[in-house]
Amino acid sequence: MGCVVADLKVRFAGLELRNPFLLASGIWGESGDSLAGAWAAGAGGVVTKSIGSLPRAGYPNPTIETYERWGMLNAMGLPNPGIEEYPREIEVAQRAGATIVGSVFAGDAAEFARLATQMARTGVSAVELNLSCPHAEGFGTEVGGTPEDVEEIVRAVAGAVKIPVIAKITPNTSDPAALAQAAERAGAAAVSAINTLRAIAIDVHLRRPVLSHGIGGLSGAAIKPVGLACVWQIFEKVKIPVIGIGGIMTAEDALQYVMAGARAVEVGTAVAFEGVGVFGRLARELSSLVDDLGYARLEDAVGVAHRSA
Ligand SMILES: Cc1cc2nc3c(=O)[nH]c(=O)nc-3n(C[C@H](O)[C@H](O)[C@H](O)COP(=O)(O)O)c2cc1C
Repeated sequence: MGCVVADLKVRFAGLELRNPFLLASGIWGESGDSLAGAWAAGAGGVVTKSIGSLPRAGYPNPTIETYERWGMLNAMGLPNPGIEEYPREIEVAQRAGATIVGSVFAGDAAEFARLATQMARTGVSAVELNLSCPHAEGFGTEVGGTPEDVEEIVRAVAGAVKIPVIAKITPNTSDPAALAQAAERAGAAAVSAINTLRAIAIDVHLRRPVLSHGIGGLSGAAIKPVGLACVWQIFEKVKIPVIGIGGIMTAEDALQYVMAGARAVEVGTAVAFEGVGVFGRLARELSSLVDDLGYARLEDAVGVAHRSA
């Protein structure tokens, strides 16, 4: 045991990942070079920053507050160069050989379908729909926060593209599994959960919120138990694969998500804190952990915690 032989390859929803650790959307992933850097550092795949129809500057600073040990609060406002410009960044990451998931955000189902079609033309392996940003007026949870919204958007996209559609759902709801079920009914190949938790920080000296936008999204270690609970509940209700996200800093965190039902995971805040070197560390640590626990393949651990619950 402990000889690091466990197979970390994962295959699901038409995707083949060399290991289960994907770079999460919005962290490190805006330029082609940064996506390529995460890939070179050992990520199993990379999710792009969420891309919209038009370039957006995002909110004015301050847009981020960090809490050293347990996470960060952000309201970036979905800054991005727009779908016309972005394919050249994807090309850079493709030349580096990266497995790429293109993330898109839009204001309604028709715009999602148009954007996803343009994203699919770049040759990405899958498209992830940002139905879950908690702080962007007219986007994210405002358009994708109910089962009806999720179903309408996913149906439009799944009917428009041939690549796998991943619905990224919000934890800011009473029933995350209902959102996942809606995505499944509408033809999603997988669901990813979670995006950030709606949150705010207040500066008592300035007597105002810390972030210029006020409300932001909380990520990092603090949200892991929430992400785990969402994945747990979703796994019990849907058959399509689940990608776990939220507060993964160690291999053990990742394995907790796998045992709760995730087939792969996305890593965000840990990359912001530690840099892309985190991917090599996580893959090495997970390989020995899985081996120590006696699994030949990571896939054998998916959902096992449900059997004894
Ligand atoms: C600075 C920042 C920017 C983000 N931008 C996006 C985005 O563009 N699209 C998206 O779907 N999620 C975005 N997210 C959410 C992350 O992809 C992820 O779901 C969340 O941070 C939880 O994972 P973590 O705890 O590993 O960071 C962003 C998160 C952060 C911290």
